[in-house]
This record gives sequence, structure tokens and C-alpha cells, in this order.
Amino acid sequence: MRLPRQNLRTPGPTPIPNDIVEAMSEPMINHRGPEFLDLITESTRLLKQVFMTQNDVFVLTSSGTGSLEAALVNTLSPGDKVLGVSAGAFGDRFCDIADAYYADLKRIEVEWGEPIDPEVIRRELREDPGIKAVMITHNETSTGVTHDLESIADIAKNEFGKLILVDAVSSLGCIPLPVDGWNCDMVGTASQKGFMIPPGLAFISVSDDAWEANRTSTMPRFYFDVAEAKKYLESGQTPWTPNLSAIYGLRLALDKMMDEGVENIFARHHDIAQYTRDAVEDLGLELFCTDPARASDTVTAIKMPENIDGSRLMNIMRTEEDVVLAGGQGKLVGHIFRIGHLGWVSREDIEEVVEALKRTLPRVGFSAS
Ligand SMILES: Cc1ncc(COP(=O)(O)O)c(C=O)c1O
Repeated sequence: MRLPRQNLRTPGPTPIPNDIVEAMSEPMINHRGPEFLDLITESTRLLKQVFMTQNDVFVLTSSGTGSLEAALVNTLSPGDKVLGVSAGAFGDRFCDIADAYYADLKRIEVEWGEPIDPEVIRRELREDPGIKAVMITHNETSTGVTHDLESIADIAKNEFGKLILVDAVSSLGCIPLPVDGWNCDMVGTASQKGFMIPPGLAFISVSDDAWEANRTSTMPRFYFDVAEAKKYLESGQTPWTPNLSAIYGLRLALDKMMDEGVENIFARHHDIAQYTRDAVEDLGLELFCTDPARASDTVTAIKMPENIDGSRLMNIMRTEEDVVLAGGQGKLVGHIFRIGHLGWVSREDIEEVVEALKRTLPRVGFSAS
């Protein structure tokens, strides 16, 4: 099956450069052999640079959700008190995983589209000294908000000595997240967002404090047991058969990221995001994120104008303009649409989206007031 070229602007999966597509068609190798040892050792070394960490980093064969599950089940025990935040669909998912493993979850509700106020975290931790870990979604893809992880981690870790478990699925490798600089314990992310490769790999970093918690943690785990991952990585392997093709892609993607330089990657994401936000507002549309300072540099969420047929807008964009936008998730279905600008993205990609919106919005009855 051959699909037409599309300007894929979902916030993951994201487009893949041709040389990475080619790298992924290399023949299979023995994942218990010397070639794989070189591949995984070098990939892990470079991943640590993207994570800005000296901590252990592991490559898991799963989507990003696997890394969130790994963060919880490797550090906690059933009944442990954890603080989670419902500020969007992915904050909810993190909370749901904690529930599924019988953590004693305190779920803070934040209006979707608003950033989490770090003061709320401080208050909760003060009120309940029994809380063991704080779970935070760094970049809430469903609302286009980047939460103030730096301040939240500072409070949770440095003031209260709690574990900080981070969903960095749509942030790491795109916007700054110095794992060691911000003292984050478990940080999970995924291949199909900032890394220019397909879905199928997750990456997770594990701090010394997380290993300490791991020694007494009793949540059930098998596939996502990081102690097993560590043992195997010492001999250049993964516990289970890895997604070799995606790891071939990862290896080249990491070289490309090093060539560009992580600081330049962050600057590119910021410039393109700012261009997106400005252009969208120039079109007369309204951003969903309530605080411009916390608007995401990887995905822009836009309020669906009232009195227009949102699904027709998305449909014309896809079928006639070859631009694939993302709709809303959970309770935001029909209320917002989103433009992804992460990973392999250029300003021209977004200019194309803006031009297409200019043509399409009047066709669905929108006129800027
Ligand atoms: C912030 C965030 N967390 C978690 C996930 C889930 O990742 P996956 O679909 O790779 O399991 C996503 C995916 O969009 C995400 O954006």
C-alpha cells in the first residue's frame, strides 16, 4: 500500500527523514550478538546526552505508555501514596496507571488548558507528608500546555524529598528537560515524538533515588522490570527481543540530533512554535492554553471556532490540502484542534499549514471578527 505524501501535523507520530527510513530497512541481526552490543551501547550513550543525565537510561520496546508504567511499577508498592494531576488526557492516563496498580492516588484537578500551579503541589505535600511520589506530565499534549516541571521538581524533590516521576513523552528531545539539572527520578519518553523515528520504542531514565526505591518496591512487574534491563544492558542486550529496525533508526536519529546540537533543536522548536502561535492568532483563531508563557513548543492547541463544522475543517485539510491535523482528546473532542510541531519539523511545514488554513477556514464559514 502506498499512501500519498501528507504534511503530518499530529503531535506524534511525526514525519521521518528518508535516510532514517532507509536505515530501518537494514537486515536483521542477532540481538544477542556483538553487532547489537555496539548498537545498544552507543545508542544508550547518546540518549543520555539528549536526556542530559548521568543516570541509567534504558531502551524499551513499547510505546510511551510503557515507560509511564515502568516509572510507577519499579519505584512504588501497592498502597503507596502518590500525587497525580488531571490537567489533560495524559495526566489522567498517568493517574489511571497508578490506580490500576493500587497506588493510593491523590488526584489534583486542574482546569484543562491551564498550567499546574507549583504552589498547589507544595500545599498538597505539606498537607500529607505520607506522599511518596509526584507524577507530572511535562508537556500535556492534549491541551498544548508545558507545565513548570523545573519548579515542581524543585519543590517535590529538593524541599520535600519525594520521588518525581515524569511523563516526558512529547517534550524530551524537543524542549529543555535537563534530567540531572532538575533532579528528576524516572523520566519516560517515546520514539515517535521528538526522535524522528516510528512508534515502537520508549526510553526511560532511572536516578539513584529511584534505584533506592526500587529495592523495596513491590508493585508487580515483569516486562518493564528495569532491574532486568540493567542486568542485560551490562552485556549489551535487552531482556526481551528488541524492535531492531526502530533501533537502527534511533542510532541514526541520535547522530542527526548530535549534529544539530540539542540547544539548537530547542531553539528550532521554540521559533517554529512561536511562529505557529502568531500565525494562528493572525488568522483570528484563539489559543487554548490560558498562559502564553506556558504554551507548548511542541504542539499548539486552538479553540475550534463556534458555529463552524470542525470535522469538515479537518476533513478538507486532510483530503484537499494534504495537511493532517489532530482533533481534541477526551472532553476536548470537538472543542479544539491541534497542530503538532515536534521532531523533524521546519518552519516551511507550518507555513504550508497556515496557507491551507487560510484557504479552508472561509469555506467552513469562519470569518475573523
Ligand atoms: C504526554 C503524553 N504522554 C503519554 C503518551 C502516550 O504515549 P503512547 O501513545 O506512545 O503510549 C502520549 C502520546 O501522545 C503523550 O503525548
